[in-house]
Amino acid sequence: MGKSVLARAAEPRGWDEALLLDAGLLAESDHALTMAGVGLDAVVATFGTPTFVYNTDVIAERYRCYVTAFAECGIPLRVRYAVKANSNVAILGMLASEGAGADIVSGGELARALHAGVPPADIVFSGVGKTTTELHEAMGHGIGAIHLESLEEIGRVAQVAGAGRYQIDVGIRVNPGVMTETHPYVSTSQVGIKFGIPLDQVAEAAQAIEAAPGLTLTTLGIHLGSQLFDVAPYVDALERVLTARAELEERGLGTSLRILDIGGGLGVRYHKESPITPSHFAGSLAPLLKRSGLSIQAEPGRWLTAPAGVLLTEVLYRKHSGGKDFLIVDAGMNDLMRPSLYRAYHHILPLVAHPGTPRPVDVVGPVCETGDWIAMERSLPPLPSGSHVAILGTGAYAFSMGSNYNARRRPAEVVVSQGRMALARRRESYEDLYRGESPNPWPSSTDRT
Ligand code: LLP
Repeated sequence: MGKSVLARAAEPRGWDEALLLDAGLLAESDHALTMAGVGLDAVVATFGTPTFVYNTDVIAERYRCYVTAFAECGIPLRVRYAVKANSNVAILGMLASEGAGADIVSGGELARALHAGVPPADIVFSGVGKTTTELHEAMGHGIGAIHLESLEEIGRVAQVAGAGRYQIDVGIRVNPGVMTETHPYVSTSQVGIKFGIPLDQVAEAAQAIEAAPGLTLTTLGIHLGSQLFDVAPYVDALERVLTARAELEERGLGTSLRILDIGGGLGVRYHKESPITPSHFAGSLAPLLKRSGLSIQAEPGRWLTAPAGVLLTEVLYRKHSGGKDFLIVDAGMNDLMRPSLYRAYHHILPLVAHPGTPRPVDVVGPVCETGDWIAMERSLPPLPSGSHVAILGTGAYAFSMGSNYNARRRPAEVVVSQGRMALARRRESYEDLYRGESPNPWPSSTDRT
């Protein structure tokens, strides 16, 4: 990791140094937490809570670190940032200015990427369920490639390409049939799950693509899963894909292939995990990648943005019930779904030091579900009502997975960089909640009683 941003983070009062360093947070004994030189208490005072804060200096630095790791192995890398991780257009725009393209999975993500200024040619479209409308939009904007995930989809793409009306580059997202060690909901490459085209259908897929006017097969790709800490499944999967490619060549297929897409998946530290570094990742894959003779593309999401974000929330109430202590905060599962969906750990830091012995508490939100929790039995100092905490590791798959459940307005998003803060998305208003609805949707001539 480069020096500039992270070197400014200092070891705080016995807090988890690595997590603070990852976020570019600084805590001094007599100050509140700061991020990129901005006091998080000032963010709370200006924008209220709950609010997401993203350190764009850290995201830019992580992007450069990722690309440099491959460059140092002699591999020029094309990055197609996985928009689903954090799709705020301020983040997309910043990454585009660094040279990143976008990996999208919906028409909505396409609209966001285009609005942020990502060049259409640098956008790839993945996903198992692209609609005809979305395919039309993607081709109409001239995106770089469509990554196909089923045999049947090939026919649909060919139909939309309209017998050669559009010329479109396509990729086969291969399901290589390898196991990964991660949460089963985000493991995407073993046999029998919905993602990708299984190895034994790759030749049939290539044949169908090459027979379709307007379609050119340029890419073979994988995406093994998310929050991965081992290079072995990548090596295994890429070897299988390169074998499949050799088999295609033997049959005179795949002659227009020029890109190998290794997907995303690099894990980050939320708690005690030991992530592999981009250098180790790139170094371990380099021999295989070079042997392929193809241009290398990657689709990182979480690794770029997760550590760079915090969710600021206010302690509303404390409560003792059934022998347990609860801390009720103003952020809920609609703002941060990962704990209730995956039992995911997110570190929690008070914005200012609080005296008193830490005790285990359940940190819960205001949503009317027992599953609405942020942390279970977390050791925290006594935090009075009205105090604030930062929930770490929330720069990816947090706001982007949020909802309006319980008619809760989605939080504000703020970016911080070099001592400045800016509002990247305003907090939703009540009007935003019912925009497009009407208390009487019947035409005036219709009696609804
Ligand atoms: N490419 C494709 C085709 C993907 O499906 C994904 C993520 C990525 C790239 C980026 O993977 P990353 O580098 O972020 O691991 N909501 C879950 C994560 C779901 C990931 C889905 N696909 C979570 O909060 O852990």
